[in-house]
Amino acid sequence: MARKIAFINYKGGVGKTSLIVNTAAALVKAGKRVLVCDFDTQSNASIWLLKLDRWNKINAAGEGAVYSIFEPGKVQVRDLIIRDALEGKSGECPLPGLDLLPTSFNLVDLENEYNGDPKRPPFLVFQEQLAVVEPNYDFILFDCPPNILRASQCGIFAANEICVPANPDALSLIGFTLLVEKLHRFHTLSASFRRSSMGPPAQVQSVVFNAIKTGVDIEVPKMRMQLRLNQFRAAKRVAPNAKIFQTQIRDAMVVRRAVTLGLPVVLISQDAADPSQDNVVNDYRRMTQEMLQQVT
Ligand SMILES: Nc1ncnc2c1ncn2[C@@H]1O[C@H](COP(=O)(O)OP(=O)(O)O)[C@@H](O)[C@H]1O
Ligand SMILES: [Mg+2]
Repeated sequence: MARKIAFINYKGGVGKTSLIVNTAAALVKAGKRVLVCDFDTQSNASIWLLKLDRWNKINAAGEGAVYSIFEPGKVQVRDLIIRDALEGKSGECPLPGLDLLPTSFNLVDLENEYNGDPKRPPFLVFQEQLAVVEPNYDFILFDCPPNILRASQCGIFAANEICVPANPDALSLIGFTLLVEKLHRFHTLSASFRRSSMGPPAQVQSVVFNAIKTGVDIEVPKMRMQLRLNQFRAAKRVAPNAKIFQTQIRDAMVVRRAVTLGLPVVLISQDAADPSQDNVVNDYRRMTQEMLQQVT
């Protein structure tokens, strides 16, 4: 079974999409087969991985993105996945094994106009269709918006782990706290739709600090986060072995530049060649190693 990890925090702009794209790339480099499912209506992961031109076509057509699976009989998840999603200058794929289930702006309609069968909520429709392709992957990563509305519910219901990206500030801690409360509510509401074969609902497994500036001491925010995590662990609201990753991702210009170039940092940074160097590419690699070693 694939490890299915939803990345979410109730605070936006914490670096969720950057973490997903760069972690996905590091996992592929480590020989894993990875699917990124974009459930954020802002479509940042899709635009990044496809580059603007290719994504614009999907967005303008109103087809070819995940929203279409909620229009009955149209298409299935398996038809929408873009295999080897990255495309280099001459059309070659610089990182085979990284697949994408893209989204476009019409995903927002799921929150308003959608009028599906209440007995088959969107998260159930998605989970059933994802199960068909799951054997093709080692990891399935979900980019969720900072809420648990319908789009986000798809990722959370299908996932078996939650990773919370955080910045070392009070808002990230509030976002984390709110997330754990809302997760509990969603799991209670969706319990009758779960089948035993799906395993237990996803709980927070890890927190990762992102965009840490050089010279900034994050011991205090880290300690506050650890205390909150301990409280939630005692109350059984997070996974029993939930932890803050030892690796923290530094703030680095190359992460911002990677978005413009439409590539993960591992493919553009001069620093990528040497795995022993102290740089952001190796932060992502180390974080990925921690993820691989994590017993869930
Ligand atoms: N490690 C980092 N170093 C520098 N900039 C970063 C880093 N991580 C994220 N960013 C930048 O911060 C902004 C928000 O990141 P993003 O991944 O889009 O967050 P989210 O998906 O949570 O909204 C983007 O401009 C991104 O380029
Ligand atoms: Mg994002």
